[in-house]
Amino acid sequence: MYTEQKIWLAQSDKELFLLPAMANRHGLIAGATGTGKTVTMKVLAESFSDMGVPVFLSDVKGDLSGMCRPGEDSDELHGRLDKLGIFDFPLQDYPTRFWDIFGEKGHPVRVTVSEMGPMLLGRLLGLTEVQTGVLNIVFRAADDNGLLLLDLKDLRAMLQYVGENRAEYTLMYGNVSTASVGAIQRALLRFEEEDGEQVFGEPELDFRDWMRTGPEGRGYINILNSQRLIQSPTVYATFLLWMLTELFEKLPEVGDLEKPRMIFFFDEAHLLFTDAPKALVQKIVQVVKLIRSKGVGVYFVTQSASDIPDEVLAQLSNRVQHALRAYTPSEQKSVRAAAGAFRVNPAFSTEQAITELGVGEALVSFLDEEGVPTVVERAYILPPQSLIGPADEREVLNLIKQDEFELKYRESVDRESAYEILIKANAELARRRQEETEAAAEEKQRAKEEAAAARAAEREAAREAKEAAREAERKKKVVQQAANRAANSVITSVSHNMVNSVTGGKTTSMSTIAKRAASSAISSVMRSGTSSIIRGIFGSMK
Ligand SMILES: Nc1ncnc2c1ncn2[C@@H]1O[C@H](COP(=O)(O)OP(=O)(O)OP(=O)(O)O)[C@@H](O)[C@H]1O
Ligand SMILES: [Mg+2]
Repeated sequence: MYTEQKIWLAQSDKELFLLPAMANRHGLIAGATGTGKTVTMKVLAESFSDMGVPVFLSDVKGDLSGMCRPGEDSDELHGRLDKLGIFDFPLQDYPTRFWDIFGEKGHPVRVTVSEMGPMLLGRLLGLTEVQTGVLNIVFRAADDNGLLLLDLKDLRAMLQYVGENRAEYTLMYGNVSTASVGAIQRALLRFEEEDGEQVFGEPELDFRDWMRTGPEGRGYINILNSQRLIQSPTVYATFLLWMLTELFEKLPEVGDLEKPRMIFFFDEAHLLFTDAPKALVQKIVQVVKLIRSKGVGVYFVTQSASDIPDEVLAQLSNRVQHALRAYTPSEQKSVRAAAGAFRVNPAFSTEQAITELGVGEALVSFLDEEGVPTVVERAYILPPQSLIGPADEREVLNLIKQDEFELKYRESVDRESAYEILIKANAELARRRQEETEAAAEEKQRAKEEAAAARAAEREAAREAKEAAREAERKKKVVQQAANRAANSVITSVSHNMVNSVTGGKTTSMSTIAKRAASSAISSVMRSGTSSIIRGIFGSMK
């Protein structure tokens, strides 16, 4: 409960307060199942909201939605309040917003592939280090080409592109093996089959929308419905880590403030570290260490603190330890470790107290004004002012529908990104290849036709030449025959005239004989031939 500008969380023989100025030094809520962790988280969240600090909570069991309703006035509640000596306890609802990665019981939460980055995506898809390295190259290739990776379609298209241009990218960035590309493709397929596809895309969650305060200045309580998400523990842990990383990266440095800018509760936090590669654990440690100076407090909720690496535990200064069982040696070890994290209170044994605590009871230690952990106290946690357990589902759905962010986030938008651009580029390439193939085919056909025409022309020329030769031969023969006939006719005429002249006929001069013979030859030629032949003969006679 928020009172005197402090968070009154628990009551021993004194009131135990979490100081707003120390709330960004992170915290841990631990304890076995059913011991009161969720209720403690609720009480803290309510107080932060009352002081105007927005809160983010992951709802793993679906029992947080009651925060949008006032608590029930019951005998049980009065019994508890009497025991704690609390008489002024207003039951009230809280400004609550519901979010859901799958968009079922809250506004859809989307992230773009590039915002998530190769490291977290590699974890999400369960890739090996080598495969994550290839994913890294895919991201760089997209960057180099100015291509946006928004949704899984984009990633798939880009992966295929890098796979097809493997040789080039191997030279540039390192080995891109077909085996790795194939493994990533298969992992993507598996992820899509689990409906993971819808969480990637736009509109991407704007973290400022989680940092709003309501009309009365109370911080919004943002509840991420994680019931379905937690069924894939790695996916759940990766998404929450992405959210934390986003907050870390997007928020400016502010140092220590009077009160935090936002509080982030991470339920089932041990999942973050289960089978996490070393590099990722390092990243978590770094984010947790540094996010404090951005005014964000992170509270890990888990059954056993021993599931959280020491380096991270060391950062969690405000602690609420609920009961732990100590039957097996490993449970006893966990109890010892949990007890060892507190400053001893000489009034009781921390180790023993942990195993004796009742439901809603806890060992509590917060940082004091000086930032020093207070001595551990055994105390009862205050009840929440809002409803314990879930609210009516229809009421929640109504709240979601009426909320201003429903309009902003419900519909996904698919703007032009790597997939669309690569599809276009491929279509353009295919079109150009088709054009080139057609042009080449046309060129071949033309060459063929030209060659055929040339061959036909050659044949024609040869035929004409042959014809001309034949014609010439024929004409030559005609001339020859004409000449022969003319010559014969001259000889006959000359010899006849000579006979006449010798046998006492009229005496004729030789020139007259020749002229007559020529005239006879001419008539002979005229009968058989052309004028050119005549000219030829005339020429030869002169
Ligand atoms: N501070 C409290 N005031 C009133 N009732 C409480 C308180 N803490 C716990 N309870 C009661 O105990 C029940 C179980 O507590 P809670 O759900 O917080 O346990 P949990 O540790 O979160 O369990 P799980 O690990 O199963 O999630 C609550 O439903 C509530 O009835
Ligand atoms: Mg719980």
